[in-house]
Amino acid sequence: MKQILVLIGGISADSLNKRFFAAIEKVSSKSLLFKVFDIASLPFYSQDLEMAPPESVLKLREDVKYADGILIVTPEYNRSIPGVLKNALDWGSRPPEQNIWAHKPTAIAGATMGGIGTFGAQQHLRNICSWLDMPVMNQPTVYFNAITGMEGDHLTESSAKFIQTFLAAFEKWIEVDF
Ligand SMILES: Cc1cc2nc3c(=O)[nH]c(=O)nc-3n(C[C@H](O)[C@H](O)[C@H](O)COP(=O)(O)O)c2cc1C
Repeated sequence: MKQILVLIGGISADSLNKRFFAAIEKVSSKSLLFKVFDIASLPFYSQDLEMAPPESVLKLREDVKYADGILIVTPEYNRSIPGVLKNALDWGSRPPEQNIWAHKPTAIAGATMGGIGTFGAQQHLRNICSWLDMPVMNQPTVYFNAITGMEGDHLTESSAKFIQTFLAAFEKWIEVDF
């Protein structure tokens, strides 16, 4: 059993990406145990808080430490990632010598109702992850259109197959010793 910590970039109660992740989890194999970290629980990053971090930041550090891999499911906001997701990544990166993200096998997915399926957000995210020394799986990419890919709260049959291929690749990715 592998522990996967999930960061979801949408924090609204009815977030499309929360629903997308829930649909991903439904078709996942039993060998992956997902745990969602609530990024909305984190305060805005400030250096003033860094020396005595609040409980939510300590929890993030602990959860990432024990995770075998990280799955980021993000919407696209103005062709980039939501600030609240960047905030979580920033918190985990500090202080620099204790960057919790380094060497954590990572996979990225994102859903939108729009045409380019979060491509812009994911490209920016890959840039950030590269600096944070996170080994991000390159393929398959999941630029997910929820209009064609979901029926209610479920993935369509072909989307489910594709997501299972993605998760199988991720299972192999987290076995690599980075
Ligand atoms: C501030 C803002 C910027 C957005 N920018 C984009 C965008 O660049 N590309 C896109 O496909 N959708 C964009 N959208 C629409 C989102 O894809 C849509 O709101 C989606 O439901 C967000 O995911 P979430 O519900 O998981 O938060 C934007 C939405 C907001 C609120």
